[in-house]
Amino acid sequence: ESKERAKLLEAYELADKLYQYILHNTEQGKAAKQYLMGRGITGKLMETFGIGYAPSRWDTLVNLLDKKQFPLPLMEQGGLISAKQDGTGYVDKFRDRVMFPIRDWKGQTIAFGGRLMGDGQPKYLNSPESMLFHKSRTLYNLHASRPQIRKMQEIVLFEGYMDVIRSWDAGVTNGVATMGTALTPEHAEAIRRLAERVTVAYDGDNAGQSAAYKSIPLLENAGCQVKIAVIPGGMDPDEYIANHGSERFVREVIETAVPSIKYKLLYFRKNYRMQEDGERLRYIQQALRLIAGLTSPIEREHYVKDLTSEFRYSYDSAMQTLNEIRLQTEKNS
Ligand code: GTP
Ligand code: MN
Ligand code: MN
Ligand code: MN
Ligand code: MN
Repeated sequence: ESKERAKLLEAYELADKLYQYILHNTEQGKAAKQYLMGRGITGKLMETFGIGYAPSRWDTLVNLLDKKQFPLPLMEQGGLISAKQDGTGYVDKFRDRVMFPIRDWKGQTIAFGGRLMGDGQPKYLNSPESMLFHKSRTLYNLHASRPQIRKMQEIVLFEGYMDVIRSWDAGVTNGVATMGTALTPEHAEAIRRLAERVTVAYDGDNAGQSAAYKSIPLLENAGCQVKIAVIPGGMDPDEYIANHGSERFVREVIETAVPSIKYKLLYFRKNYRMQEDGERLRYIQQALRLIAGLTSPIEREHYVKDLTSEFRYSYDSAMQTLNEIRLQTEKNS
């Protein structure tokens, strides 16, 4: 098994180099390079992130692996190539896609994400789980961002490759991605081992915001302090940077991320029609229940003050309600 792992790692490294070579040095790579440039990825960024291009031929990688005498069944098992339906051989798994190598914490390529340049499904094809790649534990860009994460004791969590890369270019070099929206407890543990503070910068669309909301208990249970960056207009970080530039992204999105409690208060607020007395009161009750769950008295005071000054209730009556809620929950637990 360890021999097979080594062989597969070697093949991934070879594929990584091949795809980069094709992107930068061949006629077939030109359209992909154009595509990337059009999305604001400079040549330097392409190199930093090892971006490549898998051409549309069926057998580019298969032929190279075969020539170099890599065992093809193992390569298939490892997700680099696919067996033909009729059992007569193998074809490349990734064809006509822009390739993002996914690296482990040591910087070794263990998988790829391949993006179509046009429309079509799936938009991204990711390598399958293998003896090298466990999606539930892998964070994209962890290897490169690790020194900065350690130094700042802070990590920024994105959804996608493009978000990580464009944010890196904007100066956010402590960013990683979950490659989709499913953060796992294993991811949270890995994050906590490196940094105490996390800023979740998921997409501003509903899917991203709901995933950000769900990430809070996972990260907090692992012992992280969580902030959420809210991106206006349903944009994702990449789109925000394209529209408003790097400086505004850092200043107005990353640096203005709000503590998880505040995010939760904002998040479920949308469910209440605040012009109506009854609804507003229900919101305040719900908000006080959330605030009651905070362990720090200073924080509780802070958010109760926020709430009462916004809605012009007296601090004392809100505090009284809060303490009743706390007594109630103590009794119940
Ligand atoms: P761009 O359109 O290139 O900007 O991608 P994006 O990152 O904005 O895409 P999206 O927000 O839809 O998805 C976030 C991340 O989820 C991507 O970077 C991928 O890692 C992953 N993802 C997106 N679409 C697919 C898909 O069709 N299949 C798989 N397996 N993963 C996907
Ligand atoms: Mn394993
Ligand atoms: Mn998304
Ligand atoms: Mn997105
Ligand atoms: Mn995007």
